Amino acid sequence: MRLRTVKNADIRSRNVLLRADYNVPLVEGQVADDARIRASLPTLHFLLDGGAKVAVCSHLGRPQGKPVPELRMDAVAQVLAELLGCDVPKAKDCVGAPARKAVDKLDPGELVVLENVRFHPEEESNDPAFAKLMAEPFDLYVNDAFATAHRAHASTSGVTQHLPSYAGLLVDREIQALSGLIDNPRRPYCMLLGGKKAQDKLGVLKNLLGKVDSFLVGGGVAFTFLKAQGHEVGESIVDDSLLDTMKDLLLEAEKRGTEILLPSDVIVAQELSATASTRASSATDITAGWMGLDIGPETVRRYSEVLKGAGTVVWAGPMGAFEIDAFASGTRSLAELLAGIKGFTVVGGGETGEAVAKLGLADKFGHLSTGGGATLAFLQGKTMPALEPLRAD
Ligand code: 3PG
Repeated sequence: MRLRTVKNADIRSRNVLLRADYNVPLVEGQVADDARIRASLPTLHFLLDGGAKVAVCSHLGRPQGKPVPELRMDAVAQVLAELLGCDVPKAKDCVGAPARKAVDKLDPGELVVLENVRFHPEEESNDPAFAKLMAEPFDLYVNDAFATAHRAHASTSGVTQHLPSYAGLLVDREIQALSGLIDNPRRPYCMLLGGKKAQDKLGVLKNLLGKVDSFLVGGGVAFTFLKAQGHEVGESIVDDSLLDTMKDLLLEAEKRGTEILLPSDVIVAQELSATASTRASSATDITAGWMGLDIGPETVRRYSEVLKGAGTVVWAGPMGAFEIDAFASGTRSLAELLAGIKGFTVVGGGETGEAVAKLGLADKFGHLSTGGGATLAFLQGKTMPALEPLRAD
């Protein structure tokens, strides 16, 4: 996929609507992780240094189409002001007179943050009249919100009907890195797959069967596979509705030459809590009343052997309940290993990105995607509605 990027746009003194993804975690009203805001800086610098007048719009959380005071964009504007070292005002709305007035006040090289676009129900319903209204004060549109590229909303899709539209530098970088995984991955190509829900990873498993050399499975996803093979998994997370699907996947993988590796040992506890007592267990015979919450040391060793020699590794989903130290060891050990291998490493956003950032290893990976759901959608081969209008080919 090749995109028309902002580098080809005439931006000097133009009013630019920049769609970013500033859907960042907030704790007590403050931005708890500014990775997505930092990731938008190259595009912001490009626009501001090029003399554009920039209004940035984003969603924050899921306010269900109503103003929610805790989800206003003020904390984001504050972080941008700190990162850019300039004043960053915030408009009271993302459309109508407040947006128009805020844009009219800008000189070339200045920016304003518009209010949370999801305060309007028309955003998620991709209402054409709302998209037109949003476009009105602007000369062109730049989409740098990769993490929202799988959503057809007014600010990601509808607005492109009304303005010359370009991809931002982050979106372009994400697409180049992820397209390489589909077009020409260096082999062996491994995918480390974890996270809580098997359902979330099913599309990727199905789409990449026969394309990936090995899936190395951990997290909650592993237990649905293990139960499908007839093993005792105690109280571990299992999606019983997928047992037949997982059996079929295992058979299909064998036919198509993709290896699916499952944990041989796990760390178990009787509850998901920082104070629970823990012990190592075979992954295939977990005592009733106990649940697997991390992969065990033998599994880490087996997976490490495979990953060390990989040409490409994509990591989507932590290996255990890493937010609790007692269950973080598998995720930590593999993150540390991947940070040092020669192969090209890609970390999906969401929880995996958080885990890697928490370990201080974010800059040790080939590509750290800002998208969780968007990365998975792309790897599933789904159409990305926000990117279709930006195609150069
Ligand atoms: C994300 O965090 O994955 C994106 O910002 C999309 O958010 P959404 O799932 O609420 O649409």
